Amino acid sequence: MERIVELEKMSFEDSSDEVTLRPTIWDDYIGQEKIKKNLQVFIKACKKREEVLDHILLFGPPGLGKTTLSHIIANQMDTNIKVTAAPTIEKGGDLAAILTNLEEGDILFIDEIHRLSPAIEEILYPAMEDFRLDIIIGSGPAAQTVQIDLPRFTLIGATTRAGMLSNPLRDRFGMHFRLNFYNDAELSKIVQRASIKLEKESNTESSFEIARRSRGTPRVALRLLKRVRDFAEVEDEDMIELHRCQYALDELGINDKGFDEMDLRLLELLLSNKGKPMGLNTIAAALSEDEGTLEEAIEPYLLANGYIQRTARGRIATVKSYELFRLSPPSETNEKSLFMENT
Ligand SMILES: Nc1ncnc2c1ncn2[C@@H]1O[C@H](COP(=O)(O)OP(=O)(O)OP(=O)(O)O)[C@@H](O)[C@H]1O
Ligand SMILES: [Mg+2]
Repeated sequence: MERIVELEKMSFEDSSDEVTLRPTIWDDYIGQEKIKKNLQVFIKACKKREEVLDHILLFGPPGLGKTTLSHIIANQMDTNIKVTAAPTIEKGGDLAAILTNLEEGDILFIDEIHRLSPAIEEILYPAMEDFRLDIIIGSGPAAQTVQIDLPRFTLIGATTRAGMLSNPLRDRFGMHFRLNFYNDAELSKIVQRASIKLEKESNTESSFEIARRSRGTPRVALRLLKRVRDFAEVEDEDMIELHRCQYALDELGINDKGFDEMDLRLLELLLSNKGKPMGLNTIAAALSEDEGTLEEAIEPYLLANGYIQRTARGRIATVKSYELFRLSPPSETNEKSLFMENT
């Protein structure tokens, strides 16, 4: 049986390297232990009852393993996975074609699910709840609804912006999982395993060094590993050693907190505002960056690690950031009142 069927209209493509390094079994999926444990129970129970798995919503910042997890679920359920992304589903007919082509038990993976239009969501509701497609034929008073039964399927929706999902859609998912940033030990394991697959082994120290500088994100860790491997390659080194690793990462401009250029620009901007909160739109304009990218890809890591804080009036740099840049924080009273707002 063919396991993975990619829909023709798939608008996004993962790089081929990402696909080769992508784990396909639980043992290779490092970290996210709670999610893994829960999913293993639900999958087991479901197989025992010979039912289809309930719909699953996966959310969290980019590169933390949502797509990877969906493929593992399909593998464990022994089913096909059909992959698509919300922006490619423009008309009701697009979704109807996808749904009617599913087979019993299939998994339908919709990436960026927060980007479905309200009209498409309406079609999805009965499909998710009752495995039924309501098609309206004609218009005006003569319009008729035709119902088509669908095979039972599992929808896995992935999003970096759970807050943008409409409530009715969110409520129709039986399982919600938030993926968290990885710690250094987990990331270093991911790096080490990938380095073996890439045939240039990274020792423990090097793997940790890459992990520390990867913003808690496997995709970043793997990308850095590949660049470090290039440096080792040109030097004809068989293994990735710590000194080569440090040299390469410094050359790439990755600082030892893993901040990239955009993180540093954002922090510098907030620090220069001397404790006064700055609104998202002001930040976006100052950095020439899209508000969505700031919110979904840049801020989460800085927030999760306590470098910035969101207050009712905007973003501020925390004491941790001032210390990092060896600056003295704004006067204590000022700082206290700002932090109070957030609690
Ligand atoms: N838990 C993990 N263990 C090992 N490797 C992982 C893990 N999570 C992710 N990866 C690796 O990181 C890469 C990126 O993961 P993935 O594409 O699943 O992220 P994503 O959450 O779907 O990102 P996006 O939001 O951008 O779609 C994958 O190719 C995979 O190799
Ligand atoms: Mg993905």
